[in-house]
Amino acid sequence: MMLQDLKSNFKKALVKLYPDTEIEVFFYRLTEHKLGLKRIDLALNQLLTCDDFTNLFFEDALTRLKNYEPIQYILGATEFYSLPFKVDKNVLIPRPETEELVDWILETTKNQKQIAKTIKILDIGTGSGCIAVALAKNLPQAEVWALDISKNALNIARQNADLNEVSIRFIEANILTLETLSTKFDVILSNPPYVKQAEKLLMKPNVLNHEPHLALFVNNENPLIFYDKIADFAKTNLSSDGTLFFEINQYFGAELSALLKQKGFTNIELKQDLFAVDRMVKAWGK
Ligand SMILES: C[S@@+](CC[C@H](N)C(=O)[O-])C[C@H]1O[C@@H](n2cnc3c(N)ncnc32)[C@H](O)[C@@H]1O
Repeated sequence: MMLQDLKSNFKKALVKLYPDTEIEVFFYRLTEHKLGLKRIDLALNQLLTCDDFTNLFFEDALTRLKNYEPIQYILGATEFYSLPFKVDKNVLIPRPETEELVDWILETTKNQKQIAKTIKILDIGTGSGCIAVALAKNLPQAEVWALDISKNALNIARQNADLNEVSIRFIEANILTLETLSTKFDVILSNPPYVKQAEKLLMKPNVLNHEPHLALFVNNENPLIFYDKIADFAKTNLSSDGTLFFEINQYFGAELSALLKQKGFTNIELKQDLFAVDRMVKAWGK
């Protein structure tokens, strides 16, 4: 089949489900992934054809897109902080807001001149390993540890560390029951599950039906449970001038700041993301 015809069939099949611009993005990401062809190559070579394997690949992608599966899972890949990452249904797809958390951690770490010594960093709830890998890549002298309860997520995170040629110590553990680790950290950070069950109704099917609920949801009754537990863990596992960073649900900023203050953290700062909502918190351990 001609690629032009494949494209027009692809568009027709999705036109009622997605905006035109998004369909175009899907098509070009799939052709780049499967055929190594960029949009410009397709524009310059109108007569390109594709074989049966490519047809089958697009048929499968169409079925999955009709089911609102995220394109990142279909490709098995995404980008975070301009680095390549493998993703599958066991890990949350890294979000642009989280890149801003990485920016803030790097800025703070570099400003504190901690860059001069080896610093230890712990990422709690590492998922795909996106934050840990981006930090390890940008702070080559740092010792990065990453923890998750999910064996399958850690398996992907390990592959992402290899893919990006960084060394990370991975730990399989439940942060809700873990008391301590054998070492102290200069930075402890987490983007924990923070979506209330009650917010499910507002979520799009691509997220709700495909991304891991273990990574997303907390009980309505105790939505700060991870922050509470991680803050306690940080009290014993942060070094004396250490810093705690969190990504947060936009509605938790004030409540979490109060909780951290009550636990004795100081210099508590709330930061907004590119959508101008409260998205990150930083606090000093002492
Ligand atoms: C919101 S995702 C964050 C993933 C990744 N850090 C990111 O920013 O894209 C939360 C992660 O916490 C992990 N998690 C959930 N409950 C946990 C627990 N009790 N102990 C440790 N990790 C947990 C999930 O498996 C998931 O990978």
